[in-house]
Amino acid sequence: MTDLSTVIAGVTFPNGLMNASGALCVTQEELEALGASEAGAIVTKSMTPQARQGNPEPRYFSFTGGSINSMGLPNLGYPVYAKLIPSLRRFSKPVIASLAGLQPDDFLEGARALNEARPDLVEVNLSCPNIPGKPQIGYDFEESERLLEKLGDILTIPFGVKLPPYFDPIHHQKIAQVLQRVNIAFVTMINSVGNGLVVDPERERVVIKPKGGFGGLGGRIIKPVALANVRALWNIWGDRIPIIGTGGVENGVDVFEHILCGASAVQVGTVLVEEGCRVFARLARELAEILIRKGYGSLMACRGKLQEMS
Ligand code: SIN
Repeated sequence: MTDLSTVIAGVTFPNGLMNASGALCVTQEELEALGASEAGAIVTKSMTPQARQGNPEPRYFSFTGGSINSMGLPNLGYPVYAKLIPSLRRFSKPVIASLAGLQPDDFLEGARALNEARPDLVEVNLSCPNIPGKPQIGYDFEESERLLEKLGDILTIPFGVKLPPYFDPIHHQKIAQVLQRVNIAFVTMINSVGNGLVVDPERERVVIKPKGGFGGLGGRIIKPVALANVRALWNIWGDRIPIIGTGGVENGVDVFEHILCGASAVQVGTVLVEEGCRVFARLARELAEILIRKGYGSLMACRGKLQEMS
């Protein structure tokens, strides 16, 4: 048997495959379906103080090679998730609460609610590109540090951060320094590549309604950006801070590539929306096959082993 388990911030996961926050994880039914599936964890939708309907539809579009979305954080609100989380623990896998907010104080209020609910981990979402007039906090290093410091004073649960993609080494260095200073427990990267634009040439129109058609790109087309971001932080930290690789995972080889770059686990978004929760069993089988073929006894054995050319 190949060992697909992993450990993040002291929490053991039966396997390193889980949903990305946002994909089929808003309602109680969706969260329970993740619990009953082969996913190695349950990640909630990013939550805000009050329930939100999100942006007007159509707000998700899939195309060959990927997807674009501008969901606008539709979710049930902190109080509902805080009540739900304890019951999700019956699935005997880690529960990760994704914490968002429309302003800094929201995050602090959410942190207090989550202290009561006791998920295994909290993933602080600093990278939603889809709220009009609200820039992604993760691109503002000072603001990110201020917020994470305050959260560190409140949260009694290990917390990590979900980051946007960065495109220059200086930004990887800067965010890494911030995260070290606030003692971050893990990093999830990348969120969708924000503010992409997909065009329907026949109708000469955008494909989603919010924000004039601009939205977050996901799926196969963003895999190289995701791998580069995982690798860049692994190159800075090595195994000191675990990374959950997100972006472009469609099959077991994609998972393997993320782990080679330094991820300790992966999240799936677009392919989960397309295929439903049965995707986790397929990914686990395909990952096990490639690990066996390569002679690795476990997922962790190949973590970070990507070779550079001399
Ligand atoms: C959304 O709800 O708009 C997506 C969430 C995210 O990108 O963080």
